Amino acid sequence: MSNVIAPDEIRRSVRDHYADLAVKSSSCCGPTQNAESSCCSPTKDADSTYPDELANAMPEDIANFSLGCGDPITIASLQPGETIVDLGSGGGLDCFLAGQRVGPTGHVIGVDMTPEMLAKARGNAKRLGTTNVEFREGYIEHLPVADNEVDVVISNCVINLSPDKPQVFRDIYRVLKPGGRISVSDIVTNGELPAAVQKSMEAWGACVAGALDVKDYASGLRDAGFVDVKIQPKGNIEKGLSLMPVHVPFSAIITARKP
Ligand SMILES: C[S@@+](CC[C@H](N)C(=O)[O-])C[C@H]1O[C@@H](n2cnc3c(N)ncnc32)[C@H](O)[C@@H]1O
Repeated sequence: MSNVIAPDEIRRSVRDHYADLAVKSSSCCGPTQNAESSCCSPTKDADSTYPDELANAMPEDIANFSLGCGDPITIASLQPGETIVDLGSGGGLDCFLAGQRVGPTGHVIGVDMTPEMLAKARGNAKRLGTTNVEFREGYIEHLPVADNEVDVVISNCVINLSPDKPQVFRDIYRVLKPGGRISVSDIVTNGELPAAVQKSMEAWGACVAGALDVKDYASGLRDAGFVDVKIQPKGNIEKGLSLMPVHVPFSAIITARKP
């Protein structure tokens, strides 16, 4: 899918959208936002994205500031001592959950381009007293992380927001150690979205306009060098990709490995 809007304009608009959310909302699903206008899904209710064991491991306001569309933590099978990078870390929820899993010998790096989000995440880290989680300002297309340093790259509803996904896939590959893996929740489509949707800045911020077709997502990862690429619809795994409605964005779980 080629961009119909200039990449810098997409980044600026996406950054403004998330800066606003970071500053204004104590929860993305609060009175000024809803699940249609941001990427959020409930963390602590009957339809919770996360299992109770994870959702209950955080103070309620941190757990509820989820702008994600899935649970990249459970599928990642994180191990004590591992180094994790979270692409587009937002308020830091997935970083803190990952930090609990990798323990004091592990290390979690959250990367985000929006200073207001980083301030929120760092404030949350201070409150929680975490010692193994840090937040770095940067683009997911050019991660502020050394080559071959990372065991697992996680991300929750962010790659769809990038105007240059092949570069995101190449940079994930660069930072992973050989044998390293990715565990990503993201919005994808079954068939390309109409041009009118791709042109809507509001739809970019809402994680819709930039959603890749699943076939392009898988081939993009393979082109970057990944193997064992798997993309499955969240919560509809028994349905399979071929049965997903055409041109309707949906949340998926994406896993792959660097050989
Ligand atoms: C939908 S929110 C998801 C936040 C977090 N992963 C969560 O689940 O709550 C998207 C986040 O990604 C960041 N972001 C979007 N595009 C980015 C890019 N190209 N580089 C770095 N960060 C980006 C935004 O600033 C925002 O914090």
